[in-house]
Amino acid sequence: MENKKFYPIKRYLEFYNHAISDLESFWEKEAEKIPWFKRWEKGLVWEEPFARWFVGGALNASYACVDVHMHSWRKNKVAIYWEDENGNTKTISYTQLYREVNRFASALKDIGVKKGDIVVLYLPMIPELVISMLATARIGAIHAIVFSGFSSEALADRINDTGAKVLITADFGIRRGKFVPLKEIIDSALKSTPTIEKVVLVKRTQEEINMEEGRDLLYHELLTQAENYTEPESVESSHPLYILYTSGTTGKPKGIVHSTGGYLVYNYATYKWVFDVSDESIYWCTADIGWVTGHSYIVYAPLLHGATIVMYEGAPDYPHLDRWWEIIEKYGVTIFYTSPTALRMFMRHGEEWIKRHDLSSLKILGTVGEPINPEVWEWYYRHIGGERCPIVDTWWQTETGGMMISPAPGLGPVPLKAGSTTLPLPGIDAEVVDDSGNPVATGIKGYLVIKRPWPGMLMGLYHDPVRYKEVYWTKFKGVYYTGDYAIKDEEGYFWLLGRADETLKVAGHRIGTAEVESAVVANAFVAEAAVVGVPDPIKGEAIVIFTILKDGYKPEADVKENIIDSIRKQIGALATPREIYFVEKLPKTRSGKIMRRILKAITQGVPIGDVTTLEDEASVDEIKQLYDEVHSMLKG
Ligand code: WTA
Repeated sequence: MENKKFYPIKRYLEFYNHAISDLESFWEKEAEKIPWFKRWEKGLVWEEPFARWFVGGALNASYACVDVHMHSWRKNKVAIYWEDENGNTKTISYTQLYREVNRFASALKDIGVKKGDIVVLYLPMIPELVISMLATARIGAIHAIVFSGFSSEALADRINDTGAKVLITADFGIRRGKFVPLKEIIDSALKSTPTIEKVVLVKRTQEEINMEEGRDLLYHELLTQAENYTEPESVESSHPLYILYTSGTTGKPKGIVHSTGGYLVYNYATYKWVFDVSDESIYWCTADIGWVTGHSYIVYAPLLHGATIVMYEGAPDYPHLDRWWEIIEKYGVTIFYTSPTALRMFMRHGEEWIKRHDLSSLKILGTVGEPINPEVWEWYYRHIGGERCPIVDTWWQTETGGMMISPAPGLGPVPLKAGSTTLPLPGIDAEVVDDSGNPVATGIKGYLVIKRPWPGMLMGLYHDPVRYKEVYWTKFKGVYYTGDYAIKDEEGYFWLLGRADETLKVAGHRIGTAEVESAVVANAFVAEAAVVGVPDPIKGEAIVIFTILKDGYKPEADVKENIIDSIRKQIGALATPREIYFVEKLPKTRSGKIMRRILKAITQGVPIGDVTTLEDEASVDEIKQLYDEVHSMLKG
């Protein structure tokens, strides 16, 4: 496509070069923009691969997000416009948010939560989730949010990894007109979580639920005893703000630990650069707070800036296909941040639904989570943005804490290219390298690495420094390995090409192939399983399973159902496979490793490539034959 909005890039590059020439003092200047109780002594202490930012400084995340606005006109500003799929609404000002956070912090203290304790949050998209995060941070405790679409077993695993004593949750979630029985899921999870002593329940419906005497407490009842003010705990800059589990290449999710000081500074800076937020902004990010995008860019960054956010509980296409456009029109949303998966779904349904609404309030459009195809980018630009709004395609990860490679209209216009995340943000030293760690030539695919620490960088993996080093710092010496493939073009623009490791992006959700495989082999009748991601026109990637049954079992319908059931039970519906194939053999290397590359090639109908390391070539023919059979059946 033609470059849209092609402005001179010089100003941006000057700022970028200035930042990178003296990283530490650059970030110290950014740090001065958020409130500290005590100034830091040292900008960065880098003991590879562990970074500590603003060392000696002290602050509190809830103070920085709400108390600070009590001293300005923003105290009467709307913090949150909340709405659900049925049109129920709540409008919460900064003063109201401040009050609720203080009161719930007091309640948490009353039930014994202390500085450094981990509190697990398993909540739908309701304001109490934001309040719980800030209340936890207020007393120096650490939140570990588990996305409320995860199953009871996934929840139990994460609770057990943290050893948390307190769980905050709700009776029900609401999705597509149905109640999701969260309390039942929780009761089943808590059978195997010996550390949980108290469960705080937000009761949103009149439905009866099981209450465990002495363990289960009602959120609104706890608040009746609460104080209106709770002193914010002054914590050191590298005190953990939260743990968030994410999928990696083994069956066990990784607990990503983020700091308070560095993380907040990074969120504050990147939010301004990328979204050019101002006091007039009405900002809507459609992610779920259960993922990192929601942590950073629904809660912390917008509230640090005193922005007004829209928070929506519900599916994008329920009760009708213009639900989102209706909300943009209703609130006059100016900044809209969503996922390529959602856009592809809307694109398929045509522009009819969009044309019914006035979207002229929009100024900046964002996307995150997976590569966006140029045609979808063009569609977004034309039909949602009215050819007026820059699209910020933001590349980042749970581990990076905030956006890393993205256009930054807040720093002056950057020429956009459909499908490219453009340039690294100031202070981010990104490179594309080959297997030996040397920069690749222009236009050549390689691994994306980050060469120097940045304040949003994860502090480590929860109680697993060895795995932290192994996963991120071993493939290439002294640089952070992202696990992504990328290309850099002749203008230094980055083009992200998906994961280079065994993790998938299904509808933007990060899922490990090993996690799904372990759910499949948990069935007594399964001998072996291999999971691969295949391109999907809407979800970006879909899950396909190849499995070998134990002797004596036949691939009958209930076998398939049992496999799907066990995936839903162990992970959640988000990992439901598109297809399951039963095979006699799997392609393996001589050392016994399953060659997923070959399975992937077969499913995509591309040449299989080098098979000299294969243990038994017959299995390739077998799988290829089977795949052809299944597909001709589907086509027929
Ligand atoms: C992918 C989400 C292409 C990438 C914030 C990364 C992207 C993984 C983009 C992290 C983008 C994220 N273009 N790919 N703009 N943004 N990704 O931890 O593979 O859920 O490594 O964080 O998403 O996923 P995570």
